Amino acid sequence: MWLLLLLSVLGTCWAQYNPNTQPGRTSIVHLFEWRWDDIALECERYLAPNGFGGVQISPPNENVVIHNPSRPWWERYQPISYKLCTRSGNEEEFRNMVKRCNDVGVHIYVDAVVNHMCGNGVTAGRDSTCGSYFNPGKREFPSVPFSGWDFNDGKCKTGSGEIENYGDMYQVRDCRLVGLLDLALEKDYVRSKVAEYMNHLIDIGVAGFRIDASKHMWPGDMKAFLDQLHDLNRTWFPEGAKAFIYQEVIDLGGEAIKSSDYFGNGRVTEFKYGAKLGTVLRRWDGEKMAYLKNWGEGWGFMPSDRALVFVDNHDNQRGHGAGGAAILTFWDSRLYKMGVGFMLAHPYGFTRVMSSFRWPRYFENGKDINDWVGPPNDNGIIKRVTINPDTTCGNDWVCEHRWRQIRNMVIFRNVVDGQPFTNWWDNGSNQVAFGRGNRGFIVFNNDDYELSFTLQTGLPAGTYCDVISGDKIDNNCTGIKITVSDSGNAHFKISNTAEDPFIAIHVNAKL
Ligand SMILES: *[C@@H]1O[C@H](CO)[C@@H](O)[C@H](O)[C@H]1NC(C)=O
Ligand SMILES: *[C@@H]1O[C@H](CO)[C@@H](O)[C@H](O)[C@H]1NC(C)=O
Ligand SMILES: *[C@@H]1O[C@H](CO)[C@@H](O)[C@H](O)[C@H]1NC(C)=O
Repeated sequence: MWLLLLLSVLGTCWAQYNPNTQPGRTSIVHLFEWRWDDIALECERYLAPNGFGGVQISPPNENVVIHNPSRPWWERYQPISYKLCTRSGNEEEFRNMVKRCNDVGVHIYVDAVVNHMCGNGVTAGRDSTCGSYFNPGKREFPSVPFSGWDFNDGKCKTGSGEIENYGDMYQVRDCRLVGLLDLALEKDYVRSKVAEYMNHLIDIGVAGFRIDASKHMWPGDMKAFLDQLHDLNRTWFPEGAKAFIYQEVIDLGGEAIKSSDYFGNGRVTEFKYGAKLGTVLRRWDGEKMAYLKNWGEGWGFMPSDRALVFVDNHDNQRGHGAGGAAILTFWDSRLYKMGVGFMLAHPYGFTRVMSSFRWPRYFENGKDINDWVGPPNDNGIIKRVTINPDTTCGNDWVCEHRWRQIRNMVIFRNVVDGQPFTNWWDNGSNQVAFGRGNRGFIVFNNDDYELSFTLQTGLPAGTYCDVISGDKIDNNCTGIKITVSDSGNAHFKISNTAEDPFIAIHVNAKL
């Protein structure tokens, strides 16, 4: 009986909260708008060798084609059917990607858009990524099929049919989000179609789902379709493994709907994380890095084992979603590298790294008027991710995950996995340092003067390569070397004008 009890407790711990990454792989990367065949190549040539656990992909199901503006990234958030058929590729290419990535131990996490179909005002026709007919005015999506019965038009109580007040949880769940036709997930039929779509993906071999717009669905309705999901495919996952679930709920506090309402279904995106970390590193609102000593739950965030964390995502890196101008992105690369470095060094939450495309950002009255621009393309066809001789990406793919500082911190997180947060130090201002048990140590200087201190690292004596300024290659460092004494102390000197004013060392980068 005790064994059964223990097993059931373990079951609850693992289930939908477990990312299903392979042991020693502790982060995933969002390859935003990439083609499936490029993702397959990236799994094999870069992600597997560098210890990435998985890839969050853009929505794989058929979406509406938007011409005005021309092919925005957000058209993929307007489903037409659950056929696997988008600008990223067809079902055959999708299957090929899932197999090739799984075969090298990198799993696929699908961005599932199941709260709604396309916008109310889109013209009827076949202008969708697979040519399926649809008629939004009549609520007809015959390729699913969904009809008028399957939408929340009767349930929403606002005059416009739109969400008008985020303080009213009924509106947020039952009305249209920016015109998107809201599915009636209280109905068994709608739940069964959503579960059928997700099970198709699970059977192919995906490891989990980001569930888009979860805040706009009732947690109980979500549970009803999540309870119908198959166990993961036995070709790559242990018997009884459940899909990893992380729900997009934007909760910066002060609204009717809270992240905690969704903990029963899986993890939840912690949007406070990037908003606060950006504010601290920008030194806005009197914030300083010294205050990061109790980062995590101490800052009013959700419990670590429920949190999916990120510095920026595809929405808030372009001013959509939450966090505003505080959010750090590749456009602010110096602070961004520090932010991602801090996230990957710190034990809180399950981490997702962003990988973006460049767009012609242009501010008018404080707003980026090109915030809609879709991925690099030729006449609408998404461009290949080309790889330059220096390992960076071409064709306007930013590939933050390939930046040495970020890639090496993904590895750092794997090396220190399971180790406690230790040896915190700060100068009362923006110079801070901390360790992860006896396996890794990191030091930041975000002040306006040099840092020069001897600090306790907790690491075994020896010479270590700083993995921010370089790599360990042929048992030598291409960047800064740090010597740890028998007592665990090491001297750190970081100029405030350095391009990367932080140093990170770990036991796998020891000479
Ligand atoms: C799991 O994946 C394998 C390999 O692609 C496939 O042959 C098998 O049918 C899948 N299992 C299920 C239950 O779909
Ligand atoms: C922070 O560190 C600098 C030098 O590293 C030192 O001059 C300063 O006094 C320290 N404390 C504060 C509160 O800035
Ligand atoms: C290690 O690299 C440094 C420069 O990065 C070089 O000066 C030194 O000679 C190298 N040592 C060995 C043993 O190759």
